[in-house]
Order: sequence, then C-alpha cells, then structure tokens
Amino acid sequence: MKSPRKVTRRKFIAHSAAATAGTVVAVKVLPQLAQAADATAAFKSKWQESLDRVWIGPEYWANPMQDWQVKNGRVECVKAAMDRQLHLLTRQVGPQRGTIEMSVKIGRVGGGKLKAGKGSFGLRLGILGTLKDYPERHDFRNNLWPAPNSGFHIGVNSEGGMFTGSLGSAANSRVLVDLDREAVELSVQVVPDGDAYKVKLTVFDAATRKQLGQSEVDKISSNQLNGNIALISNFGSVAARGGGKAKGKAAEASFGTGEFWFSDWQVSGTKLTVNESQTFGPILFSQYTLSKGVMKLTAQMPPIGADDSQTVRLQFKQGNAWKTAGEETIHPEARTVTFRIENWDGNKEVPYRLQYVFKTRGRDTLHQWAGLIRKDPKDKPVLTVGDVSCNIHAIFPNTELVGNMAKLDPDLLAFVGDQFYESCGGYGVQRAPLEPAIIDYLRKWYFHGWTWRELTKDRPSISLPDDHDVYQGNLWGEAGDGRKTTQEAGGYDMEATWVNVVHRTQASHHPDPYDPTPCKRGTTNYYGPLTYGGVSFAVLADRQYKSGPEGKVPKTDTSRGDHVLGLNFDPKTADLPGLQLLGDKQMQFLRDWVTDWKDAEMKSIISQTIFTAMATTHGGPDGELRADYDANGWPQTPRNEALAIIRKAFAFHIAGDQHLPAVVHYGVDTHKDAGLAFAGPAVNVGYPRWWRPAKTGRNAKTGTKGELGDFLDHFDNPMTVRAFVNGPDQPPKPVMEQVVAKTSGLGVVRFDKKKRKITIDCWPYTTDPTKPGGQFPGWPVVVDVTENYARKATAHLPTLDIEGVKQPLVEVFEEKTGELVYALRLQSTKFQPHVFANGSYTVKVSDPESGKSKQVKGLAAASGNKEKLKVKV
Ligand SMILES: [Fe+2]
Repeated sequence: MKSPRKVTRRKFIAHSAAATAGTVVAVKVLPQLAQAADATAAFKSKWQESLDRVWIGPEYWANPMQDWQVKNGRVECVKAAMDRQLHLLTRQVGPQRGTIEMSVKIGRVGGGKLKAGKGSFGLRLGILGTLKDYPERHDFRNNLWPAPNSGFHIGVNSEGGMFTGSLGSAANSRVLVDLDREAVELSVQVVPDGDAYKVKLTVFDAATRKQLGQSEVDKISSNQLNGNIALISNFGSVAARGGGKAKGKAAEASFGTGEFWFSDWQVSGTKLTVNESQTFGPILFSQYTLSKGVMKLTAQMPPIGADDSQTVRLQFKQGNAWKTAGEETIHPEARTVTFRIENWDGNKEVPYRLQYVFKTRGRDTLHQWAGLIRKDPKDKPVLTVGDVSCNIHAIFPNTELVGNMAKLDPDLLAFVGDQFYESCGGYGVQRAPLEPAIIDYLRKWYFHGWTWRELTKDRPSISLPDDHDVYQGNLWGEAGDGRKTTQEAGGYDMEATWVNVVHRTQASHHPDPYDPTPCKRGTTNYYGPLTYGGVSFAVLADRQYKSGPEGKVPKTDTSRGDHVLGLNFDPKTADLPGLQLLGDKQMQFLRDWVTDWKDAEMKSIISQTIFTAMATTHGGPDGELRADYDANGWPQTPRNEALAIIRKAFAFHIAGDQHLPAVVHYGVDTHKDAGLAFAGPAVNVGYPRWWRPAKTGRNAKTGTKGELGDFLDHFDNPMTVRAFVNGPDQPPKPVMEQVVAKTSGLGVVRFDKKKRKITIDCWPYTTDPTKPGGQFPGWPVVVDVTENYARKATAHLPTLDIEGVKQPLVEVFEEKTGELVYALRLQSTKFQPHVFANGSYTVKVSDPESGKSKQVKGLAAASGNKEKLKVKV
C-alpha cells in the first residue's frame, strides 16, 4: 500500500462518501472531521469528553490493550512495565518535507510528584512494523506491532533527564529538568534543517506553563521520523515473550517503570499524512452465516465501559427504508453481539447495517457498520470456499493476500484455525487474571478481524479455534477438561470462561451447535451442520475431544510426550481402547449428518487439521519425526471410525494447520478407500513442516517411488499424496521473501455441483490468482465426488431408473443390519449402486427437499448385475 498523501478537504469529503458504502461511518461527526482535515492535519485528543473505559477510542491502538484505560478525562497506563504504547491511527509522519508540532501533558497515575518514583515517559515518532524495509508496503496497521528498535524516542526520565533519539540516548541525557511537580507538558517541534531535521523538546510545568528545560538535536533524517506516532509509558524493550528483561541492550538506559497518565495530546504539522478513515471501532467487524433458513450474525465490539451504551442494533434494508430487526446486548466477556434471525429468505440479497450509539460526555454519535447478506448461491453451478488458516501475522495486515482473496470472491470463507499466534502483536501473552487475559486475547483476535473484515461483512464465514487460538502450542482437549500435568497429557491451559470467550468470538455466528450442552468445565460446543449454496458442511472440532497421549500411550523416546524418533516405533502399541478423536456425541452428529441432504448436492467436512500424519519433518530441516501425536492420524481406531462414517456421504475434507499445503487421499483399510482432504496453505507460515518420505523409514517402506502416491503415515494409516509443496531448508531472512518462500499462500476449494467435481486451488503468496497458471506445482487438483469413497466394489445392485425426482438422493442400506452403506445425491436419474459385499440391500430413493421417498427392499447384490429397476418416487 502506498503511503497516504496529505488529504485536502475536497479529497477527504470524497473519501468519506466512499466510506459510507461499507465501513465505519461516524454520521454526526463527519463535518467536524472534515474541518480538522482542513486545518493542516491538526489533531487534538478528546479524552476530557470520554467516558471511562479500557478501549481508548476509534483513533487509537493501545499496546497491550489491557494496560491502558481512559479515566477521569485522561488516558492512563495502569501497568508499570516497559514500552507501553498508545498509537494514533489517523496520522502518520510522511516522507514529505514539512514540520511537526506535538504536545502532551503527563503525570503519575494516582497523583504524586513526577520525581517521586521511577520510570520514563514521552512520545515516539517513526514507528515502523515488520515491513519497515519495504517502503512501498508501509501500512499504519503493520506499524502497530513495531519492529525491534524502531522509532525516534522523545522523553523524560524520572530523574529529569531529557532525551531525543535512539533508546540508547536516554542514557546520555544531559539536560535535566526539575520534576518536583505533579505534571509536565512535553512540547516537540520538528523543523527542516537542510536535507535533515531538527528536533526540539521543551518541558513545561503543566500547571504554570513555566519552562523547565529545552534540548535540541539536529541532523535527523526523515527516515528516522517516518511512520506511526505513539505515546510511551516507560522507554525500554519488552522481551519477546513478555515479562522478562530484554537481552543484549547494554546501551539502553533503564530508569525503571512507573504508571503515567496523559492528557491534551496535540499533533499537527505539514509533515503529517492524514487519513480520518483509519479508525477501528466502536463496531470493529462482523461475521455471519446462513443455513437452513436461519441467519446468524455476530458483531465484535471493543472493551467498552460501564456507562457506555450496552446494545447494538441490526437493521435491514427493505426497498429504500431501513427496518430494525433487533437490538441485542453486548456480551460482557466476549464483547460480542449475536443476532439470530429465523425464516430467512435466502433468495434475496439484503443489505444490513449495525448501529451503535457511541457516547461521550454530553454528546452521542451514531456509528454504523454496513454489509450484505448475500443471496444463498444454491443455483450457482460452483460454490467457492476460501480455506484460510495459520496466520502468524508476520506481515500484518496481509493486504495483498486479502486483496487476492477478494478478487476470487469466495462464496464462503472457512477460517480453520490459528487465526493468530501467541507472539502476535508483541508482549507475549497474559494468562491471568481473567479480565486482562480476555482483553489480551481480544487484541490478538482483533488482528484477525481487522485483516479480514472487508470480506467477512459481505459473505458468510466460519471460524474454528485451533490450539494457538487458545494459547497452546498443541491441544488435546479431553472434552473441555483443564490441564492437569503436561500439555501432552491433555486438557486446556486456560480456564473455561476464557476458552468460551474464544468460542463465542469465533463461532457464535455459526449455525446452532449440534450439542448445546457444554462439555467438561462448562466448555461450550461449536461443532454442527452448515448448509449453504447447495453444499452441506459438517463443521467439526477435532481438538476439543481428543485424548492426550502422554500417560496413555507407551512412553516416547524424546523429552516431549507427543514426539517419537525411533524408527522401530510400532504404531499398534498406541492404538489403545478408550482413546477419543471426536468424542461420542460428535460421532453421533456425523452419523446424522451423512443422511441429511436437504438443499445439499455435495458434502464436505471442515475441521482444523487433516486425519492423517503426513509431515515427516518438523520445525527445521533436521526435525524428522517417526510419529507426532498431534496429528489426527492418531488415535487410529476413532480416526478410522470417523472416516468410515464421513465417506458414506462422499464428503471432502477442508482443513489447515499443517503449514505444508497438500492434497491427500485417506485410506482406512487400504489406500483411497476414504475421502480426500486439503491441508490449505498458511496465511503466514511460522513453524515449517516438510514432506520427505524418503527420510523416514516407515514411509519409504511402501516402496512408492517419488513423493506422490501411496504411503503409510506415522501411524500406519494408508495415505495417498496427490499434491504438496515443501519450503526451503534455509528460508531467506527478509520478512516478505521469507513469508513467500515458506509456502504461505491462498487456498480455495470449488464444489462444482453440475459436474459433481471438486477443484482444489493453491497459490503462492504473491501470485495473482486471477491470472492463469501460477499455482503451486501440482495444483489445481480435480477430484470426482465419487473418489471420496473409492473403495473397490465387489458387487452391484440393479441399475435404477428413477422417476419423479430430478436430483434424487440414493441411500443404500445393508438389509441385515440396517446400516447405511452410503448416500449419494445424483445429477441424473440413472444409477447402478455398487456395494462392497454380497447380500441383500434396501435402496431408498428420495427428494430431500419435498420429503418424497420410495424404498425398495430385498435387492440382491451380484457381480455383473445386468438387472434394471424402475423406481417411481
Ligand atoms: Fe498453525
């Protein structure tokens, strides 16, 4: 993205008008904002008018969010810790020649003299994020997660030392000001000086305006100043995982930490670029689904205060009028608002808008967030599903990838897990106490929402939390239980209330869960059915019920309870009775689901990861594993039982998690006798995995030459690899090149209902998906729906000649047991059912939409069956 240019009044008004079509519209504020833009970029904080709340306001981003609040008309950093930042979103320092003037008042939270305590305070300019070395990609959102040592620091320490420059300059501060006072005002002037700039800091007593001191530096290049602007509480470095002290910062002065308040922040000057639309909130983003006549929509809100409005209104456009459909209360923990509308007419597209009354002292403004509930694309021949997962946000906000996905215009977006990682946004994670830990999660979740909101507002999406979404490297959920010993022994690290916030923020807009009764510790369920665009999906939770291996399987030969190295490992020893993959109730859901074909021509499951252990090499090029219990190739018995149900509906599998894009064909008893799966590419790969079958004994044993074809996975499950892409052993260091090289990219699955074919597309990160070619080698992969149960037939039933239904559902049952053999929705009215054993069968032919059906009993299976049978439904 180009750096935004200075906005003239005329341009700004044009821009605002465009913004009303989709994003946040501050209806009553617009005229005032327009004036501000006119007045050479002048910005003034209005905290004196703000209600008390954690969320600072639409024009700010606080790092980390839980450490800041607005209170009594000022903003406070309430944690004495290093490098707490409050970014201004609407203004950045631009490359153009010009001036900057800034001022802010500062004192200690709780009162007292500034000299009475430790810490430092001030401002930072020139904050750039991970994309700092890519000027053409600079983006104010990327800068919210600053690159290490990024920025030009301007501040005062508690001993009165003034500093301007690098973090190290704080140690060399020569000008001292007398901090024997409660509050000071920092005033900063940046003026051109030849080819460079002079930066002058003046400190005043905030009450008397008496000047206390002044310091000036020159020969500052524009490059040091360009980027985001932030208030800083305690200059210093935060260790990557938070908490601990930064290493290797000998030159960095430490003046300890304090808690500081800020007020009357003013920023102006011609070197600023202004974009008043660069705000976030109060309605942050929205997600919705439509299934079986029920539309569910969730709006995500920030942590508002007790005196703020607690409700959000939903309106639909009918003709030229907006009609209110409902008003719901914001969930106190998840900060979500969910609307559930029954009897939804999927034949129409309906514009919607969410409204929230944003209160300040003495003035209310109406904020809106608008989108579109699309017409159910059941008549479109092809339904396109975006398969999105694993975003370490290395290059947040991934503008290019999101733009490419937008060009493909998928009908449905499936975010299948790891919507962020613990490292996202810096500061590590905060796990306790509960309230700040929830806000810590929300800040990271907001990165995801802010990345995708332009797409999720206008099309249905689902979101499956995976392990990193619940702050775990791996998750064996043990039916919602809490962790007792090691992670590998199973259970959730975080308490159930927190986990339920994750479930609510990510999945409350899903169709109602199959099981509304929470599992252990009150952990809520989100798995269930979704029918959209003529395709029936089973949305699964493949971690929530899974057994933890440690203490159950034979002790591993590594320090981890999930990794096995020894090539003589016998997978049978790990296939033990009582182990769970999906859990009993979720298995019951799958049994119900394979017979539910109303409004569905094809079927697919969607879950976090694939049901095989494909990757041979983990983390680094030498990280070969004999077995990895995190993979859903284990536990074998429940895995096989699940696949044996899923294949009955010829269902495909959409997943992610692996960071190793691949199309695999599952086997239960033999190769290819179950469905195919797509492990989609990661948005931004962190932890790499490779497929190198020659390198592990077990995989090589099958004798397949090359890397495509039939193999056994870690757990001896038959597995056929149809396509895959490995990243390099040593990826390049620069972040953009690294993201691309590590096989980050874009994955899409197309369900062609006319041809009953599934096409899997997979593009490298920077490839334009609308141009022909350019996919990863081996893609696209095209699969016929019947390949999803390509078990060899041993006999056939009579050829059916069906009348009375256009696209009949044919269900074949074993007569003796009554068990469903399979169910297939036909494109034609002629079909010869195949079976896998001799015997007697019942065939049920039906029209799932009207409910009409006909059963024929006593059909004998025979090889070379030439019989014909007319079935009138
Ligand atoms: Fe991941």
